[in-house]
Amino acid sequence: MKELIKKLTDITSPSGNEDLIREAIREEIKEYCDDLKIDRLGNLIAFKHGGGAKIQFAAHMDEIGVIVTYIDDQGFLRFSNVGGLSPFQLLGQRVRFTDGTLGVFGLEKLEQMKDWTLNKMYIDIGATSKEEAEEKVAVGEFGGIIQDFADLGRRVAAKSMDNRVGCAVLIEALKRVQSPRNDLYCTFTVQEEVGLRGAKTSAFAIEPDLGIAVDVTLTGDTPEAEKMAVGLGKGVAIKVKDQSLIAHRRVKELLVRLAKEKKIPYQLEVLTRGGTDSGAIHLTRAGVPSGVISIPTRYVHSPSELIDLEDVEAAVQLVVAVMETPCDPENL
Ligand code: CO
Ligand code: ZN
Repeated sequence: MKELIKKLTDITSPSGNEDLIREAIREEIKEYCDDLKIDRLGNLIAFKHGGGAKIQFAAHMDEIGVIVTYIDDQGFLRFSNVGGLSPFQLLGQRVRFTDGTLGVFGLEKLEQMKDWTLNKMYIDIGATSKEEAEEKVAVGEFGGIIQDFADLGRRVAAKSMDNRVGCAVLIEALKRVQSPRNDLYCTFTVQEEVGLRGAKTSAFAIEPDLGIAVDVTLTGDTPEAEKMAVGLGKGVAIKVKDQSLIAHRRVKELLVRLAKEKKIPYQLEVLTRGGTDSGAIHLTRAGVPSGVISIPTRYVHSPSELIDLEDVEAAVQLVVAVMETPCDPENL
C-alpha cells in the first residue's frame, strides 16, 4: 500500500486535469474489473458484477491546485486557487504545472499579516520578462503544489493524500474482493475539490441503489486542535454528518455492523466543515441512500497530509466487507 500511495501522490492532477492520475489508476485496476469506462466528464468507472444492489463507490482523483490568472511585465504569474487553498500553506512551496513547468511562490511586502491573501502572492518560474514567461505558461494553466512523499514508518505524509489515499483504498479493495455480492461501480471522480462535479454526473448515469464515498477526514488529535473525536490510528472513520451530507441512517448502521462483525477498528465521524462526493450522490434523481468511509488525515489541504497505514488497512477491509455483503436494493 505504501508504494501505491507514493505512486499516486507523486502525480500532479488538479481538478479538471485528471488525465495523468486517471491513466495511472486505469493501469492498476484494468485486470480487476469486468468493465472499465471513462465518461464524458472524465470519471473513470470500473464495474464488477456481483448481483444484489447497485453500489456506487466514489473516490475523487483530483487534487487542489492553482490556476494562472495574469502574467506581469517582469514575468511573474498571478494565480487563483482551484479548490480550498490557504495562502499560509504556500510560502516556501513549489508548484508544478501540468506540462511540467516548475515555479516557486513569493509574497509581496505586507503592512500586516491579515493582508496575506492569495492575491498578494505570485509564482516565480524563473522568467525575466512577460515574453519569456509566456513561452512556458499561459493564462489558464493549472498547477499543483509538489512535495516529496515522506515515509515515517507506520505513518506517511504526502501532498494530495486528499484523496489519492481514498483512490488507493478503492484500488486495493477491487484487487482484494473475492466474491462480490453486489454490482459494484467503483468510480474515480473528477472535480470534487471544486464542487463534487464528477460525482454528480456519474451518479446520474449509474443510478445506484446505494452510494459510498471514500475520502479523507480531519482529526482532532494534534496540539490544541479544535475538538473532534476522530484520531489518527484509531481506525477507519464512518461518517455521520458533514456539510454536504447527513449519512443515511441504514447505510451508517450497515457500515458499523460490518465493522463490528469483522472486528475492523472504526470511529464515528462528525465533520463540521467540508463535504465529499456522497453529498452529490445522495441528491441524485429521487435520492440515493449514501454514506462515507473516511481515512483520518492530519493537515488536510496542506502540502504534507499525514495518515496512518493501519487506518488505511481498516478502510480497505470495510470497503471489501460492503462489496461482499448481499444488499437488498428494496430494503435499504
Ligand atoms: Co479536499
Ligand atoms: Zn477529498
